[in-house]
Amino acid sequence: MRIDIISVAPNLLESPFNHSIIKRAQDKGLAEIVIHDLREYGLGNYKQIDDTQFGGGAGMVMMIEPIANCIKKLQSERTYDEVIYMTPDAKTLNQSTANTLSLKENILILTGHYKGVDQRIRDKYITKEISIGDYVLTGGELAAAVLVDAVVRLIPGVIGDEQSALTDSFQDNLLSPPVYTRPAEFEGMKVPAILLSGNFPKIDDWRSDQAYKRTQQIRPDLLDD
Ligand code: ADE
Repeated sequence: MRIDIISVAPNLLESPFNHSIIKRAQDKGLAEIVIHDLREYGLGNYKQIDDTQFGGGAGMVMMIEPIANCIKKLQSERTYDEVIYMTPDAKTLNQSTANTLSLKENILILTGHYKGVDQRIRDKYITKEISIGDYVLTGGELAAAVLVDAVVRLIPGVIGDEQSALTDSFQDNLLSPPVYTRPAEFEGMKVPAILLSGNFPKIDDWRSDQAYKRTQQIRPDLLDD
């Protein structure tokens, strides 16, 4: 899978993709992540990328030409399955969206800053808009990093134990059950006896039951879906 990201702050995206599982995914050739500095497409000597908004109001708006030129150049090189804009005024990312995107060949992600991008970019080029939650970040880069992390770990071969991605929280609209490791007792706190029993069908039942109870308690909205 190839992921291109357009950003005015490309440095912000270096670290998240250069460590741990996402780095290994790239080293293994399972994911290619390419970051494009929007400033290179800026207008005039000052490489302008933003301007005041029509109609007045505080805050700068990212201009249409630099973004359109960057998207058009990338689209001339390959076909994108989705052109995604990271923005707080969109539907919230969930596991189902991550699953769907992990099956795509090429995705292009546009990150915004300031007041956001000229609406005409959204109307003409964007095929999907994604928020990572009901709060506003200083820019879309960290949101894009969250999206890429959630998607890339689902590509087959990225996580060693494939089973582990399948039993994540949300994969079946349930939170994960509690997990324990050694020691079996710490400062009087014991691991639930069922987990030490070796009775695997019973352990599966216990885990399902715990996942359901935890979901009911913390995220009952997930059970409504
Ligand atoms: N840009 C700023 N805030 C954001 C959010 N919550 N999700 C996606 N992109 C954003």
